[in-house]
Amino acid sequence: MWHLVRILAASQLWFSDGNPIAAQRGGHGVSSRLIVDGQGFLDVTEMRSLDSMVLDANGEALWLKRRERYSGRFACPSLQNSPYPLNLSLQIDDAGNFNLSIVDIPSIMTACYSIPKQASGRLKPLPEIFVEDAAFINKMIEQKFIPYQNIPDAPLKTIQEIRALGRQYFPFTPYNFELAMALYDWTTASFARMVLFRIFQYTGIDSGVAALPHPLDRESLAVNIWQSNFSVYTPQDADYMRTFLMQPAHSFDNLTAQLEEVIDQVYNFSEIENRLLVAAMQSMPRTSIASKPRLFSGQVDIEQLGTGRFGIEFEECPLNKGPVGVELAHSLTDALDSYMAVGKTITTKMVWSFTDSMKEAMHYSNGIVLVLNPPSGASLWDSVSFITPLSDDPSKIEYTAAPGTKFEIQSVQHTAVSGKPVTMIGLEPVLDRDGPLKTQPVLGSTHQQRLSEGVVKQIIDSHGFVQSGRGRYKRKHRRQEEDERMDE
Ligand SMILES: *[C@@H]1O[C@H](CO)[C@@H](O)[C@H](O)[C@H]1NC(C)=O
Ligand SMILES: *[C@@H]1O[C@H](CO)[C@@H](O)[C@H](O)[C@H]1NC(C)=O
Ligand SMILES: *[C@@H]1O[C@H](CO)[C@@H](O)[C@H](O)[C@H]1NC(C)=O
Ligand SMILES: *[C@@H]1O[C@H](CO)[C@@H](O)[C@H](O)[C@H]1NC(C)=O
Ligand SMILES: *[C@@H]1O[C@H](CO)[C@@H](O)[C@H](O)[C@H]1NC(C)=O
Repeated sequence: MWHLVRILAASQLWFSDGNPIAAQRGGHGVSSRLIVDGQGFLDVTEMRSLDSMVLDANGEALWLKRRERYSGRFACPSLQNSPYPLNLSLQIDDAGNFNLSIVDIPSIMTACYSIPKQASGRLKPLPEIFVEDAAFINKMIEQKFIPYQNIPDAPLKTIQEIRALGRQYFPFTPYNFELAMALYDWTTASFARMVLFRIFQYTGIDSGVAALPHPLDRESLAVNIWQSNFSVYTPQDADYMRTFLMQPAHSFDNLTAQLEEVIDQVYNFSEIENRLLVAAMQSMPRTSIASKPRLFSGQVDIEQLGTGRFGIEFEECPLNKGPVGVELAHSLTDALDSYMAVGKTITTKMVWSFTDSMKEAMHYSNGIVLVLNPPSGASLWDSVSFITPLSDDPSKIEYTAAPGTKFEIQSVQHTAVSGKPVTMIGLEPVLDRDGPLKTQPVLGSTHQQRLSEGVVKQIIDSHGFVQSGRGRYKRKHRRQEEDERMDE
């Protein structure tokens, strides 16, 4: 376990677990996310073995190792179940750099363990959030297109609960409610809109319109909405059709005619919500590989797509180059023989969901199951976010990867799980070397306020109190009023 006893930072800080800054954290496999206002994220992850302990801070490690030759008069304090948390000191400058070090070390500890000086690294950037996107999502919430209405098969969350979770996980942006809502809505049947309107894009063709970046395979979209047949989610269901801004349809021609009228609007809606969803996913705390050594995904997760639509979910599928009108469908066998062969890297066009057990994945599988292995040497699942805290169903274990995430195909096996034939594909996320850690944090759009210029020293007293700005409390009051209005 560990706790912060000294902090030197000019920004307001929060932990996404919602607990006080100075609270005790950690334990084997536990990763905690510190949010630095206007700057970025720091993930501190604890891992233990018999004679060592590592604190990983955004990929930089603090290793405590048992000295070989210690032969003192006292038994060494155990790292496994010490009642005393390590004392940590954190420094953050204005350019997104941090130093994390162990301080106030008793001499018995230095006698028994080699203790590293400090870990230095960079914060992970805050997501980019556009004011216009948040405003649009708000309009869709007011008009009850978000979240999915009248969910029949999950316990749901209230608007107040979603607001509270937004404040906890995304305190660095005034759009924390919109982010929380985009994530919540993804966990409902709205996900069909957010998936179908991405996978049927010809991503190899530029449309010239920024808001609707690529042309769509309209025919396939219509067919797949028409063939929806899961639980109550059919084209005859008013709530399901509402997610596509349409009325219930009793014929394919009627559905096609309706879709022609609204297709650009739904496409725009899906792009905007996907952007906020990804921003929310990027902001959620990470999961350690020590706690979840593998993740699983049943595919295709929309049954009517069939395995022939699996390949088109990736940018590498040559059909993405069109021409417009060519059907986005590619047999799994052909895909596995070419751009999805072992050793190839694929890039997802949509948000992908994983879970933590093969059994659960098989529940969603329609012929394919994915086994996600961690990148070697990584201590965190950096490219997936655990989103269950915002789910409409707390028993649905869900990890998501953003569009644009790359995976290397490691193995392909045609096998059977619990008597069901499946194609089992082993994958590993490919870390983007020029990715998040190298880019500058996005200021401006997400940078709402700075507590004080100049560096203020925040000494945390034993009650865990951290000096913090007042502006935020004002905002909170305004938000609370809104809550009350919304909840009436
Ligand atoms: C943390 O600091 C306190 C007070 O200085 C000290 O008693 C304790 O042993 C330290 N804990 C560890 C694990 O170093
Ligand atoms: C981290 O420590 C080094 C040297 O100990 C120092 O030069 C640097 O300014 C520190 N960085 C931060 C973010 O405080
Ligand atoms: C929808 O699924 C049910 C069984 O789950 C089946 O009986 C029905 O025929 C299906 N409807 C269509 C239109 O495919
Ligand atoms: C679709 O059918 C409904 C009646 O079921 C009708 O009111 C509506 O005008 C039709 N829409 C189109 C675009 O044909
Ligand atoms: C997408 O929606 C935004 C927000 O309503 C709007 O400003 C923009 O014009 C729309 N773009 C298209 C291409 O429909």
